[in-house]
Amino acid sequence: MMEKTPIIEVQHITKRFKGLTAVKDVSFTIREGGITGMIGPNGAGKSTTFNMICGYYPPTEGKIFFRGQDITNKKAHEYTNMKIARTFQIMKPLKNLSVLENVVASCYFGHAAAKNNREARERAMEILQFTGLYEKRHVLSKDMGTPDQKRLEMARALATKPELLFLDENMAGLNPAETEDAIRLIREINASGVTIFLIEHIMKAVVSLCEEVIVLHHGEKIAEGTPEQVMNDPYVMEVYLGKKEAPHAQSN
Ligand SMILES: Nc1ncnc2c1ncn2[C@@H]1O[C@H](COP(=O)(O)OP(=O)(O)OP(=O)(O)O)[C@@H](O)[C@H]1O
Ligand SMILES: [Mg+2]
Repeated sequence: MMEKTPIIEVQHITKRFKGLTAVKDVSFTIREGGITGMIGPNGAGKSTTFNMICGYYPPTEGKIFFRGQDITNKKAHEYTNMKIARTFQIMKPLKNLSVLENVVASCYFGHAAAKNNREARERAMEILQFTGLYEKRHVLSKDMGTPDQKRLEMARALATKPELLFLDENMAGLNPAETEDAIRLIREINASGVTIFLIEHIMKAVVSLCEEVIVLHHGEKIAEGTPEQVMNDPYVMEVYLGKKEAPHAQSN
């Protein structure tokens, strides 16, 4: 039987910043319809890899394909039209706008851009319900705590109606109950037909969500497989935090 074309295929990407090689010759695929995770210690090159795939900046070398189409040099603004959305590790809401206004603004972007204010507000209200932000829709985004800001990042991404969603440390700074909520929400988004690629330090979330995990270390891919396979990989155990201990011990 023929394997389905992956939604994303990354071939030998490298990123150099002046003297520093942040990502070295990394290749992997993201399966359509699934949840794929990327893990690795701080500075491993996860966000850099993510930023290249999202069109935030191009790779120095290598190629990126979206459903078989070469998108290596596409710009970030072309991505929403390809039904791809992302969140940022450093959250970027429009600080002086309310939660509702933030989501309404995002509804005007991308392949399904709202045609008028009514359509944008209707979609925004639906997304606010779905992400659990409805009650806080009139709060200014700058007045919310981290968990709600993270939700807002997701809500804004969903407003563009993506088929592929990239999440960079969407659970950092959440307590265990908030993490459970975030896991549930990500699972629901995936169940609604959105392929997800996420970077996450919280191993509990990676284990419970991801069918496939890619591990980076010093800019190189050192392992990939199911969460169980990578966490039992002796090299992963050794490099993770530089200790001979499985990565799931880390809670941050
Ligand atoms: N724009 C940039 N200019 C120069 N160096 C950069 C830039 N972005 C990242 N780096 C460097 O590249 C390396 C990888 O950084 P990256 O942010 O990709 O790591 P990460 O795996 O996402 O880490 P973390 O878990 O801390 O978020 C680091 O040494 C970082 O300092
Ligand atoms: Mg990062």
